[in-house]
Parts: sequence; C-alpha cells; structure tokens
Amino acid sequence: MANVITKPNDTVLEILRFESLPSTNAEAAKRATNGAAEGLCIVAAEQTAGRGRLDRRWVSPKGAGLYLSIILRPRIEQRFWPLIPLMTAVAVNDALNATFNVRTDIKWPNDVLFNEKKLCGILAESVDAPTGRAAVVGIGINLNESSFPIELQEVATSVEAAGVTPNAELMLSSVMESVFRWYGRLHDPEGAATMIAEYCARSSYCNGKTIRILEGDESFIGVTCGLEPDGALRVEREDSSLRIVRAADVEHVRASNN
Ligand code: BTN
Repeated sequence: MANVITKPNDTVLEILRFESLPSTNAEAAKRATNGAAEGLCIVAAEQTAGRGRLDRRWVSPKGAGLYLSIILRPRIEQRFWPLIPLMTAVAVNDALNATFNVRTDIKWPNDVLFNEKKLCGILAESVDAPTGRAAVVGIGINLNESSFPIELQEVATSVEAAGVTPNAELMLSSVMESVFRWYGRLHDPEGAATMIAEYCARSSYCNGKTIRILEGDESFIGVTCGLEPDGALRVEREDSSLRIVRAADVEHVRASNN
C-alpha cells in the first residue's frame, strides 16, 4: 500500500508499506540502486532479517516495533555524511519529545535511550547507484516489549514502557516530519556545525561521560570531550592522550563499575 504525506517545505514524501520484508534497509537500498527518489520511505509491519549496526540483527516481530527506512540523496560534502545517522537520532529524539512528551538521551553515535535503555536504533548505509550515491536511513523504534528476547530485557525499553500508548501511525508521521526538518537544516551553510551543537545539546555522551570503547578486539576506558566536525567522538584516556573514535560500541561506565 502506498500513500503520500507533505513535508514542511512542500516536497512530497512517498510511503510504501509491506506486511513483511527481510529488511526495510535492504528493500530501500535496492530501490535506491534502481533510481528511487529521495523521500521514499519503506515501512514493514515485521522484518524477518532486520539489520543492526556492526552486523548485528534487529529483532523485528509484528506489532512490537516501527520499522522504516528512508532514502536520502544528500547534497552535502562527503566528509559530513557520517553526520546523517547523528542527524536522524536528533530527529527521533525530537519527535518522541514533541509528539509523546517522552524525553530521551542519545548514546553516541545514534542510539536513542529512555532511562538509559535503548528505545530506538538507527542504521545508516550508503548505496552507490547509477544515479549517484544515496543514503538509506533505517529506524527501528520499540513500541512495546511483548516480544523482547530475554537478553534484551535489561538493555532495551519501549514507547509503552515510557508511559505512552504507542500509536505507530502518529509516530511514523512525526518521525518523518522531524527527519526532513533536520535533514534540511543539515544542508544550511553552517549545517554541519549546527548539527554537532544540536546533537550535543541532546546527548549526555558528548562531554564528560566516562565510557568504555569496544573497537574490534580492543577496549579502553576514557572520558568524552566533544565531537569532531564529522561527528567522530573525542575521548581522553587516563594518560591524557586523545582518541578519535569513528566506529565502535560505547558503554557507559558507572562509578560502581570502575
Ligand atoms: C542498531 O543496531 O541499533 C540499528 C538498528 C536499526 C534497525 C532498523 S529497523 C528498520 C531498518 N531496517 C533494518 O534492517 N534495520 C533498520
């Protein structure tokens, strides 16, 4: 089923809905390769092979989450493309706040947390298409915890657990409106710097957070000290050396874990 909504600057966004897909990101990537326009959004009621960051899977049973992927064709410098998932996290954060009064945190790079548990995951992938490079932004929002596997119960949460009766349609339109508003701002002349500032205003992980970084086989502890212009995380280690982290897992180290 397809329908259209209008985003703030009057560009029409198309939504394609599926009962079941292996992965909305895979479907969107295929369509981007075949020339689909910016603004196409793929939504599935369930995913049978949902993809997460760092080659993980994203458990996506019917009725338990909102699973969507949006095709973007950014016209920003390539070096700022890593800001796209951070921009998406800001957008989801704001949509949850504005529409449902749910106040969330953002764990670098793009996990949206409620009460320190993950409520939304974001997977941005780039696609080299004959019509030019595209980005596919996949968003998975936990609506309820009915099907959480046991291993997720300690680390994940849901819109329902945040005290809101989940309304997937309202969530979808609110998230899309917010994504395209922030995507527009990313294209402003100072868009990249604005995005970093807005991200850091919403993320407790930007500055002064003691974290453990898991980078491949390596792991180290440090304190965050801001972001690079492309969104990479600056971390000061105990010996005062600075590490710039681009792709890693991050864990908050609480005082009792030190
Ligand atoms: C993460 O590991 O935190 C990212 C999870 C991203 C999941 C979403 S659900 C919709 C889209 N389709 C996928 O296969 N993955 C993303």
